[in-house]
Amino acid sequence: MPAIAVIGAQWGDEGKGKVVDMLAEKAKVVVRFSGGDNAGHTVINPYGKFGLRLVPSGIFSSRTVCIIGNGVVINPEVLIGEIDLINQHGVDTSRLFISDRANLIMPYHTLLDGLEEEARGGKAIGTTRKGIGPAFADKVARLGIRAGDLLDREAFLERLRQIMDYKNTILTRVYGVEPLSPDEVYRQYCQYGERLAPHIRDTSVMVEEALERGEKVLLEGAQGTLLDPDFGTYPFTTSSSPLAGEGSLGVGIGPTRISDVLGVFKAYCTRVGAGPMPTELQDETSDLIRERGHEYGTVSGRPRRCGWFDAVAGRFSSRINGFTGAAITRLDILDTLPRLKICTGYKLEGKMIDYFPSSVVALAKCQPVYEELSGWQVPTNDIRKFEELPLQARQYIARLEELIACPVAIVCVGPEREQSIIRRDIL
Ligand code: GDP
Ligand code: IMO
Ligand code: MG
Repeated sequence: MPAIAVIGAQWGDEGKGKVVDMLAEKAKVVVRFSGGDNAGHTVINPYGKFGLRLVPSGIFSSRTVCIIGNGVVINPEVLIGEIDLINQHGVDTSRLFISDRANLIMPYHTLLDGLEEEARGGKAIGTTRKGIGPAFADKVARLGIRAGDLLDREAFLERLRQIMDYKNTILTRVYGVEPLSPDEVYRQYCQYGERLAPHIRDTSVMVEEALERGEKVLLEGAQGTLLDPDFGTYPFTTSSSPLAGEGSLGVGIGPTRISDVLGVFKAYCTRVGAGPMPTELQDETSDLIRERGHEYGTVSGRPRRCGWFDAVAGRFSSRINGFTGAAITRLDILDTLPRLKICTGYKLEGKMIDYFPSSVVALAKCQPVYEELSGWQVPTNDIRKFEELPLQARQYIARLEELIACPVAIVCVGPEREQSIIRRDIL
């Protein structure tokens, strides 16, 4: 049985956590492959409501092994806090494994994320300030500390001293702040290492063996396609790839192991942080969506920017990820609207274009061109069969399907696990 990737198709917060929690019951392994604790994946199930940041959303399914892959950057303090919280709700976490190759977020990463944002002033990216950018930068600069390093204290101390020497020079000379104590960081991270050691493994082998045994493997994406450092709204992006391709690199399996890619879209668009968003609204409709949909960040609590579904961006996302199916979440949030709009093209400097520009300067100038559809104006929360959705809702989904060039396999009509309409079995 091959692996199936679940990917954020827009600017993040599409409902990946809910979809993975729902599908995980049938999976033997669930792996997070990118991002870090900038992610906030909401899961509501019989155990309670959780905003997971590092632990894969499959943890609530008792037979599922959960893995934090090599492509994730891990803040050990956050991870331990999350494990404790999950345990307090009666959920076993002995099935959770961490790649020995995953880079760690260190105290200087979080500190530098904040300092860099301050230095950007009016041009700030609006990062989550969790140290994600600095940690991924260190990974490729070969200045990272990896989970496996915590298992050899002597080698860890030597490497930490060398790296912190350099980091403290930047902190004191560039930013004029107090240096961090390497001994203090060493002591703290040794404690984390002791706690996490039973979970640290060569997880790539574990996934490969599961695939060899014919078991179902789910790859849980974080962030969204339009935050990808290459294909997103650079530089207003995150620092690791949320794309399906990373599902192979961030886990350590070959790309041919991934047979299906499920793109998770909201029925409209949201974005947290700065950067262009062509369909953003600042009127009663966006206020209504924000309040009805509680559109406030899971991690930062920031109000999310809201707007109509952008099918130009959606088609682009579908193409670069190779979606074989889509999940449309939060259809219910649109229940009260009399008219709906879908962006089908952009007008750029007087000319119609049908592609997502690579430059944010161009994207910021794009005017959305809309198609209007009738709303359904009846509650959909309790509907479980596609045929039972109001005609206008089915027409809305059919039009999205056509525009993003990908069949809709799942429609979600509420935050809870059961509030879902499955049109085609994914696993
Ligand atoms: P993720 O980061 O992609 O996992 O998404 P978040 O958890 O950050 O944000 C999605 C929000 O939508 C969460 O509050 C979910 O509980 C909620 N949600 C998911 N699907 C639905 C849905 O179909 N309807 C409603 N009303 N809420 C949903
Ligand atoms: P999930 O997995 C929404 C955004 C931040 C900021 C930009 C860079 O819950 O969908 P970073 O801290 O990554 O350097 O911030 O990316 N961002 C997200 N937005 N959902 C997320 O994750 C996000 N992770 C990062 O708001 O604009
Ligand atoms: Mg989120």
